[in-house]
Amino acid sequence: MVESPHDDSNPLRQALPRAQAPHPCAIVLFGATGDLAHRKLVPALYRLHHRGDLPSEYAIVGYGRRDWSDDDLRREYEKSFPDSEKGDDFAQIWPQFASRLVFAPGTFDDPKSFEALGAKLEELDRTHGTRGNRIFYLAVAPEFFEPIIDHLGKAGLIHDWRREEPWSRVVIEKPFGHDLESARELSRDVSRVLDEAQVYRIDHYLGKETVQNILALRFGNSIFEPIWNRRHVASVQITVAEEVGMPGNRGAYYDSAGAIRDMVQNHMLQLLCLVAMEPPVDLSADAVRNEKVKVLQALPRWTPEEVYENVVRARYSAGSIEGRDVPGYLQEKGVAPDSTTGSFVAMRLTLNTWRWAGVPFLLRTGKRLPRRATEIAIQFKQPPTQLFDVEHDGLKSGNQLVLRIQPNEGASLTFEAKIPGSRRRLQEVRMDFRYGTAFAAPPPEAYQRLLLDVMLGDPTLFTRTDEVDNAWRFITSILDAWAEPDAPPPADYPAGSWGPRAADDLIRRDDAVWRRL
Ligand code: BG6
Repeated sequence: MVESPHDDSNPLRQALPRAQAPHPCAIVLFGATGDLAHRKLVPALYRLHHRGDLPSEYAIVGYGRRDWSDDDLRREYEKSFPDSEKGDDFAQIWPQFASRLVFAPGTFDDPKSFEALGAKLEELDRTHGTRGNRIFYLAVAPEFFEPIIDHLGKAGLIHDWRREEPWSRVVIEKPFGHDLESARELSRDVSRVLDEAQVYRIDHYLGKETVQNILALRFGNSIFEPIWNRRHVASVQITVAEEVGMPGNRGAYYDSAGAIRDMVQNHMLQLLCLVAMEPPVDLSADAVRNEKVKVLQALPRWTPEEVYENVVRARYSAGSIEGRDVPGYLQEKGVAPDSTTGSFVAMRLTLNTWRWAGVPFLLRTGKRLPRRATEIAIQFKQPPTQLFDVEHDGLKSGNQLVLRIQPNEGASLTFEAKIPGSRRRLQEVRMDFRYGTAFAAPPPEAYQRLLLDVMLGDPTLFTRTDEVDNAWRFITSILDAWAEPDAPPPADYPAGSWGPRAADDLIRRDDAVWRRL
């Protein structure tokens, strides 16, 4: 095991309060000229500014290799700001926001650049009232995580974590390692400079309102929890389906990751944790994360043969989506012609816990599926005796609770109702909750919430080092099995279909079928 610097034995750490309102701070974006900063981070910060959620004094420092001025940075961000995000008052609000944007030129491996950054931050403390508080956001390729953190430490830019203010926090984007060993190495590198309390590992799924609502639904109500266990639940399906293939230059990164690292190791295992965890004693960061870790510890320890039996990997061949012809995975730019990477993974697993022993958790995710849809479906057992004639397709009982993470955010409960008439026939009916209808405003974007939480010093929605470790332990056992010479090659599925036949066969064992979304 890696060291667990998070552990609760340190009373000082527990005493660190969550701020009520964000303190003045400087937010340094490493990778300021990259895609994530343009598409997600800057729009999210702008929206926070617009809502008045940011502290009264703040600055955003774009750090990058270009030879840009502050004005260049402002123009670039403004240009790439999506029209759909602008709103009527953009012309009025943007200049206020832009006045907080500053560019700091520098590379990731030059100590002088970091000294210059330090000087710039001190200047901002004076000119922008940022009070020495700093967020360093690593929106960069993973090979730069370690050198940047190392240089931050050496340049004296990381404050002692025990001081309430000024504080330093470092946000790390995924991927955190590419297997168990590299993740542990990265954890060790990080912990040489930072205390766990200063590290915010992003999994943007945790910032989604609908994902946070899983705990609200389970633990803010009394009706679900008594039946949320092996006595009542027949199976749980978690689907993260995407229509997109390899947009832009994504192929090369994706080919080294595949669906298993890109989606399962992080987003899907986090969804699994929230569905399967025990109630935490309270909603504090460590109480919630302690329970999630226990789920990850209860994941199976498979032999290679068990991996072949329970995990299907596949990649799309040429096909069509919504009438558009699209190329196969191997034809995508950046993908190796002899690649064995899966753009689709389906797996069947059981958790070794008192609550869930024997209940199949059926996970599937893939690119180039017919549509974008993420949902969790809890399939309840059939009644002990069947008094009525039940008609429906595939699944035997109509009792299903479906949490729609996206799109059409909401939840629905299906149950059987008698079809009017003299016969005793039942039909499935549905009670539906929709965010759009129940709450006037659309849910905030995930990055908005997560950035605000970093400013508030609340790590609840970020993954702790032992979560990452346990997730990689499980995923690495699958990767190792696939690296064996006799591992079955990836199956194929036509783009625009719901995956390979092998995925259907996988869950037929449980008398189940994949839900049609
Ligand atoms: C990212 C993956 O983490 O999540 C992408 O790298 C994927 O491959 C994306 O497309 C999906 O996120 P969302 O929020 O669109 O479901």
